[in-house]
Amino acid sequence: MLLIAGATGNVGGELVHALLRAGEPVRALTHTDRDSSLPPDVERATGDLNDPESLTTALNGVRAIFLLSGYADMPGLLTKIRDAGVRHVVLLSSGAVDGGDLANVVVRYHAAAEAAVKDAGLPWTILRPSGFHSNALRWLPQLRSGNVVREPFADVPVAGIDPFDIAAVAALALTRPGHDHAIYRLTGPEAVLPADRIRILARLLGRDLRLQPLSDDEARAELGATMPSEYVDAFFNFFVDGAYDDAVVLPTTSELLGRPARTFRQWAEAHADAFR
Ligand SMILES: NC(=O)c1ccc[n+]([C@@H]2O[C@H](COP(=O)([O-])OP(=O)(O)OC[C@H]3O[C@@H](n4cnc5c(N)ncnc54)[C@H](OP(=O)(O)O)[C@@H]3O)[C@@H](O)[C@H]2O)c1
Repeated sequence: MLLIAGATGNVGGELVHALLRAGEPVRALTHTDRDSSLPPDVERATGDLNDPESLTTALNGVRAIFLLSGYADMPGLLTKIRDAGVRHVVLLSSGAVDGGDLANVVVRYHAAAEAAVKDAGLPWTILRPSGFHSNALRWLPQLRSGNVVREPFADVPVAGIDPFDIAAVAALALTRPGHDHAIYRLTGPEAVLPADRIRILARLLGRDLRLQPLSDDEARAELGATMPSEYVDAFFNFFVDGAYDDAVVLPTTSELLGRPARTFRQWAEAHADAFR
């Protein structure tokens, strides 16, 4: 049995579908009732990753687990997973860990998760993706009320990756030999600006969408309204101070998958209904 954490999220959701398509035994971990995106026939188990003891039933008979970073007690969580007999952990980390500064909270929580996974004494695979194509879903509220998208860091190109491709690599690591103790830095096939993504969406939707870049002050205020200040600082560190070059394009994703990594246009075509 394969246990998929974050199964209602961008990557975990794609992973559940990928494993079901491949005929693998899948159990989706959920902790709230936000499970509408799950296929109706998938096995489910509830549990809170912040509370390792709540996972006893979910971990029963599990051979390998797909895990996300950032829960309250990552070492305790990994001990629970190991003691339950799990034999492989695939961790969704972040490309920002690669050479990142531990003073940055995003780097720090992913690095802590990676350390816990490595220290657990189990085979592991760590995925370090670039920014997700699905981040464009954050524009949905703005697109519902008009054609203008206000965007922080509008001059920063990102070699964004499709969660579908991250999930495809995770599925490989969970089901095929040869990925133990591997760290994969996964990127998309091309670096694009927010304005490029808006142009692609505009053409797809037949709408006159426009990007309105935010000044740094505006960006700080808008981000600060939705996240703690240390996260705002982290994103300024990445994209204004230039601590993280998320525009780098690497061949790893396409080499692992044996096909080109998916572009933002391909992601947008597959998810166009969400924007209509
Ligand atoms: N977005 C990016 O550009 C980017 C780039 C690199 C790395 N990352 C990393 O990717 C991760 C996010 O992945 P994603 O976008 O696939 O996820 P997501 O769409 O944000 O969904 C989060 C998932 O985690 C589940 N979850 C949250 N708290 C939980 C808990 N206490 N116990 C059990 N499940 C819990 C949620 O379940 P519910 O539905 O029940 O809430 C949901 O399924 C983050 O660690 C982020 O730092 C993101």
